[in-house]
Amino acid sequence: MKKIAVCGKGGSGKSVIVRLLAGGIRDRGQRVLVVDSDESNTGLYRMLGFDNPPEPLIDFMGGKKKVEADIEAKIRSGVPEHLVHLMAREISVADIPAPYIVHNGGIRLVTVGKILMALEGCACPMGIVSRSFLKELRLEADEIAIVDMEAGVEHFGRGVETSVDCVLVVVEPSLDSLEVAERIGNLSTQIKIGDVWAVLNKITSKEFAAELTDELNKRDLAVVGSIRYDPEIFESCLHGRLLSGHVAEEDVEKILDILFP
Ligand SMILES: Nc1ncnc2c1ncn2[C@@H]1O[C@H](COP(=O)(O)OP(=O)(O)OP(=O)(O)O)[C@@H](O)[C@H]1O
Ligand SMILES: [Mg+2]
Repeated sequence: MKKIAVCGKGGSGKSVIVRLLAGGIRDRGQRVLVVDSDESNTGLYRMLGFDNPPEPLIDFMGGKKKVEADIEAKIRSGVPEHLVHLMAREISVADIPAPYIVHNGGIRLVTVGKILMALEGCACPMGIVSRSFLKELRLEADEIAIVDMEAGVEHFGRGVETSVDCVLVVVEPSLDSLEVAERIGNLSTQIKIGDVWAVLNKITSKEFAAELTDELNKRDLAVVGSIRYDPEIFESCLHGRLLSGHVAEEDVEKILDILFP
């Protein structure tokens, strides 16, 4: 398993879980590339302990205007939008120059791009950058990529997940979250992703975990593990600090034992 996409409803805990997985995988001796593919939220770099985010990959590819022009030209020449591809060749982590990648204790971070200004246009170019980058990204045997996805399911429409091997769907205790998870499960099956798991998050009792597991199983989703509500995590998020939480980290270890036996 090389490329893992972390998906789910807005606010369910995707970024928190990306950070916890990245730390856990790094501690097991693998090198981790975190790909921030969320066009809206800007705080992942802080959770990972970086002072600043890297420059976005959309700039590495020439900037938003150029990317938009390239996409338009391809569509005009008859390529359907869902097949537009922006990168001419494979790229390895070592090929990504500073300032487009930052590195901190075994964890590297790249970010696709953020919508920062009003009337900036739609996020489609960012989706195509994510899709193209993940398709061409070549990882070494000891490298794992973890992708922090935009909330919801739109990125499936843009084909961002077509090159990932594993989808983790974060589910917090709410019916909305279950419903989004069901849709993500179905969309992942449609594009034939081999490994699709739900991860329960913000769990406050064994009973809630059992109830959610039941509901997810009814929706054809298997649960890989359950992360408890951890006040330390809540506090790190509140203060924008390097994320840590002993309770949640302990739970993530059990999930990693299953994902990387
Ligand atoms: N296991 C947990 N224990 C306690 N609080 C948690 C836990 N997981 C997430 N949270 C809380 O939920 C909030 C949202 O988490 P996070 O930012 O990871 O969600 P997200 O799914 O990435 O959101 P978005 O869709 O906006 O990107 C955090 O700020 C934190 O307060
Ligand atoms: Mg997030």
